[in-house]
Amino acid sequence: MRVAMLTGGGDCPGLNAVIRAVVRQGERTYGDELVGFLDGWRGVIEGETRPLDVNATRGILARGGTILGSSRTNPFKIEGGVDACKESLEALGIDVLVAIGGEDTLGVANKLHELGVRVVGVPKTIDNDLSGTELTFGFDTAVQIAVEAIDRLHTTAESHNRVMVVEVMGRHAGHIATWAGIAGGAANILIPEEAFDIDEVCATLRHRHDELGRNASIVVAAEGAAPKEGTMTLQTGEVDQFGHVRLGGIGQRLAEEIEGRTGYETRQTVLGHVQRGGTPTAFDRILATRFGIAAIDAVHDEAFGQMVALQCGQIVRVPLSEAVGTLKTVDLDLYHGVAERFFAG
Ligand code: F6P
Repeated sequence: MRVAMLTGGGDCPGLNAVIRAVVRQGERTYGDELVGFLDGWRGVIEGETRPLDVNATRGILARGGTILGSSRTNPFKIEGGVDACKESLEALGIDVLVAIGGEDTLGVANKLHELGVRVVGVPKTIDNDLSGTELTFGFDTAVQIAVEAIDRLHTTAESHNRVMVVEVMGRHAGHIATWAGIAGGAANILIPEEAFDIDEVCATLRHRHDELGRNASIVVAAEGAAPKEGTMTLQTGEVDQFGHVRLGGIGQRLAEEIEGRTGYETRQTVLGHVQRGGTPTAFDRILATRFGIAAIDAVHDEAFGQMVALQCGQIVRVPLSEAVGTLKTVDLDLYHGVAERFFAG
């Protein structure tokens, strides 16, 4: 078979591990010919590929990013984009396309599947907000990076009697914030799922500092965390082809408000793309490798329109349509029942 792969959306540690596993299993077990489209759906629209074989994918297991490049190109938002995708798959003799991506990339894969294109999906995103799978690879690495940063911020906060606001990624879901906040001992965690009240955040900090005698606090905020309507203003940014506003700014605004309202000296740290770059954790390498093997097996089982997923520790298949229907948000039992128990002190 001639099987193509693409990586779309924000890059993510573990993408190369998936590519390596698909190639290894495809070439060695099934005798497939593999190619990679460059820069996500852009490469499909423009028919830009590179050959992939075992030799070309040596040494990439531990490497962050993606050797195929990525983009947020959406063929459904470009005139003639969908026809161009179909034509290039036909012209290049691609039997099946393995799309490695999050909600947006797999949303396109699902729509193309409905139009008759043979696709299999692999879930990736550091945000862990894709439905149908308990975890996406890249998330564990992002949490690890955030926790390391929080551990470091604790000691400098204590030395200077400061509040530290740490802004992490997660525009629609606060998985990274919740996990990193619990593991990092945060005094407050703000997530998109629960609009926050700045008065309550400040009251928690006052209680901690004035009544419990603590001299430093860490507040973790997902970039998509939002205040209750009308309580605090936020900045907005440009919109991409999937309609997402470029975020960033909540950490700065929170630091200003907290310092202004409580009088505690407050600093902010935006972790940004550091969370997405660099080498994947061992967990993510293994999950990505399992997904890669399962994806090429799905190709040969003709499980088109399906996404490989992790459920109860097992790799399973779920329809792409289920995976991209709604975002997986934070389990509020974890947020209220665990994270919140440690707020204040
Ligand atoms: O795709 C995940 C993600 O890292 C989000 O957490 C973040 O909001 C977004 O990508 C940033 O995208 P970009 O790199 O295009 O600014």
